[in-house]
Amino acid sequence: MKQYEPPFVTLTLSDGTTIKLATKRDRFDRVFIDTSVLFSQYGVCAYDVGLQSTAICQSAITFINGEKGTLLYRGYPIEQLAEQHDFTDVSYLLLYGERPTGKEKEQFTEKIRHNSAIQSELHLFLNSFQHDAHPMSMLLANVAALSSFYQQDFDINQPEQRKLAAVQLIAKIPTLAAMAYQHSLGRSPTPPQDEMGYAENFLHMLHNVPGKQYTPHPLFVKALDTILTLHADHEQNASTSSVRAVASTGSNPFACVCAGLAALWGPAHGGANEACLKMLQAIGDESHIDTYIKRAKNPDDPFRLMGFGHRVYKYYDPRAKIMQKICHDVLKVLGNQNDPLFKLANSLEKIALEDDYFVERKLYPNVDFYSGIVLKALGIPANMFTVIFAIARTTGWMAHWLEMMDSSYRINRPRQIYLGFPQRDIT
Ligand code: SDX
Repeated sequence: MKQYEPPFVTLTLSDGTTIKLATKRDRFDRVFIDTSVLFSQYGVCAYDVGLQSTAICQSAITFINGEKGTLLYRGYPIEQLAEQHDFTDVSYLLLYGERPTGKEKEQFTEKIRHNSAIQSELHLFLNSFQHDAHPMSMLLANVAALSSFYQQDFDINQPEQRKLAAVQLIAKIPTLAAMAYQHSLGRSPTPPQDEMGYAENFLHMLHNVPGKQYTPHPLFVKALDTILTLHADHEQNASTSSVRAVASTGSNPFACVCAGLAALWGPAHGGANEACLKMLQAIGDESHIDTYIKRAKNPDDPFRLMGFGHRVYKYYDPRAKIMQKICHDVLKVLGNQNDPLFKLANSLEKIALEDDYFVERKLYPNVDFYSGIVLKALGIPANMFTVIFAIARTTGWMAHWLEMMDSSYRINRPRQIYLGFPQRDIT
């Protein structure tokens, strides 16, 4: 890649105009050309569909090295955090920049517990949904409804109130998610339990049947807790950049999370885990893999290998490796290490990674490739997979919201290339 020497680069237009632009370098010495003055000083704009080469902000939260397949949360490698810390520690780290001390973790955990209950009006609101409504639709609607209980309480210009709003959302999102699932089964919701941890509480609220005490298996709790850590944040992905776009207008944090949920729902983003499991079930067995690989390679076929490829990773997604191990461990505890879908996924990965089409395009398994299999093994239905992703990513969205609100920002207002009619009069 051509390197520009700071502090500036010059561009020369076909009419001979010379454009001089400042450059910035990030922590890892990557160069960014500051194009913000292009229009005001030179009357021209940049064009970057999908923002493939455009930074929309400066951030200190997460860093991805797509070429090497590394992922850092506040500088710590995801492998070390997944191994040595739980999701509560990781949430604290993402929100405030450092891992919590014992006292800090105790206080943070207490704040989450104290704010995890849901207003009774929302239970009534949920009853207006059909039982077969997609849980993401119920979650999205409930987060929007939640804002109505706090519209006077939060002044987003006050840092302390912003922190409380972030904790409110992180605390309530699992409860709302479990309520949506229980509603889909025609069951009344189970409230959060004070003595349980974050992942344990969610599994309990999800699977508990009133009148029968459900206690999640400790390995399932650890597996889900690690899955939440893996999904917590990921730089300016589509949903996080949507949260930032809505935040740039001064919207409240609940509305920002609604924007994130809406973006995450898509099968090209957070909906890929559900789509990947359905794809594996459609493939059925190894004899059909070649047919689907051919379809994925056919430019005229909209089919994509779900759970494969990534805008940033051009090497193995480190989260996929950890997810594959979690999958193996959970299936082993269940005595199901020969799970046909897991075996099929491993074979599909092997075949794809030996195929020139995928190798040339640097398409590797991403976080969604194995997550569906392990969530299914944890007894979580496919239409809840993106909801699990949303529970985890709410922490990342709130970390970015706090970072943005604590810094100077401008309303997002991209330009466009207009190809419509010239001005014309109504006759
Ligand atoms: C997540 O951004 C994030 O960080 C997201 C995420 C997070 O934590 O927030 O990591 C979570 O969303 C992971 C991605 C989950 N989505 C999927 O698994 C869906 C399948 N993947 C593709 O839709 C695709 O790979 C994307 C959307 C993930 C990335 O799309 P890009 O960067 O726009 O890549 P592209 O479509 O330009 O693809 C480049 C080439 C194309 O072929 P050519 O035109 O060069 O011939 O690779 C091909 C694509 O057709 N390609 C695939 C493919 N992904 C890309 N071909 C077959 N199967 C695929 N999965």
